[in-house]
Amino acid sequence: MLKDDFKNLFQQVKADISANMSKEDWLALEKKYLGRRGELNKLMDSLKSVALEEKKELGKLANSVKDELDDFFKKQKGILGTNEENKFVDLTLPGTKSEIGYLHPITQIQDELIEIFIGMGFIVEDGPELESEYYNFDALNIPKHHPARDMQDTFFTTEGNILRTHTSPVQVRAMEKYGAPLRCIAPGKVFRNEATDASHDHTFYQLEGLMIDKNISITNLIAVMKELLQGIFKREVTVRLRPGFFPFVEPGFELDIKCLICGGSGCSVCKHSGWLELLPCGLVHPHVLRAGGLDPALWSGFAFGLGLTRLVMMRYGIEDIRLLSSNDLRFLKQF
Ligand code: DAH
Repeated sequence: MLKDDFKNLFQQVKADISANMSKEDWLALEKKYLGRRGELNKLMDSLKSVALEEKKELGKLANSVKDELDDFFKKQKGILGTNEENKFVDLTLPGTKSEIGYLHPITQIQDELIEIFIGMGFIVEDGPELESEYYNFDALNIPKHHPARDMQDTFFTTEGNILRTHTSPVQVRAMEKYGAPLRCIAPGKVFRNEATDASHDHTFYQLEGLMIDKNISITNLIAVMKELLQGIFKREVTVRLRPGFFPFVEPGFELDIKCLICGGSGCSVCKHSGWLELLPCGLVHPHVLRAGGLDPALWSGFAFGLGLTRLVMMRYGIEDIRLLSSNDLRFLKQF
């Protein structure tokens, strides 16, 4: 029947398609079906002898088949037109590899540290980057007009909040949330309103640590720090503590490690001192424990603030901090 002939036309076209057809083959195929003397027109011709009622119905069908075929060939020609060299598709050739991404070196070191601390029973806590002055300063024993606020150039928002200048506010938030005993770390982004140069950036990364329990002392602090350092540097590391002032710890320290390059005999990396300044730390100030809702007569703890950005720079010998936020793939692809 004529109706079936129209309906089957597209099937016929498909049956005529073979692998590896060139552009010319496609043009010939199009001509065979849609050309002046093509299959479609042949069917159209036979419409003439059909009764009027049937003619209307078949005419509609014929038009839709024609549109369908037109569309089909147009698409094929489009593909071939832009991709002439695809005439011969060799399916055995290896495909084009899609590029996979890289983890930023700061993310990598952060992941490593998280793993080390989880191994020591610490939890990972998050805090807001847009912080209140209370958590960033007051709760950390830095009162309104205390000169220590000048140590940290701060970005203020018009609503009276700030961009946190350190990860230490998470200490108080964690104490409020979990109480004691508590072991937690809080890695994250911090902000300082200062001019940038090779060793200063307005945005960088820290990892805060806090351990609270009964009778926590400096010995616990040193033990955890040594475990941490051996985890990152994969070897025994010698540490020393120097007194350092931070309002939220008492006593406060700067923790140095024996220079990993020269082993302590002095080189340009340690500026011939034999030691590298690594992180500030101390025993949590009673005011801070109280701000976190803990009784200093019952609980004590240590805290430290590790500069992740600085650690990455030390590890890979990166001399300009700005490279880390430059999004320069030539730089980032090296890690
Ligand atoms: N929050 C301090 C800063 O960014 C670093 C710091 C010092 C953190 C001593 C601590 C600490 O937890 O005990 O300058």
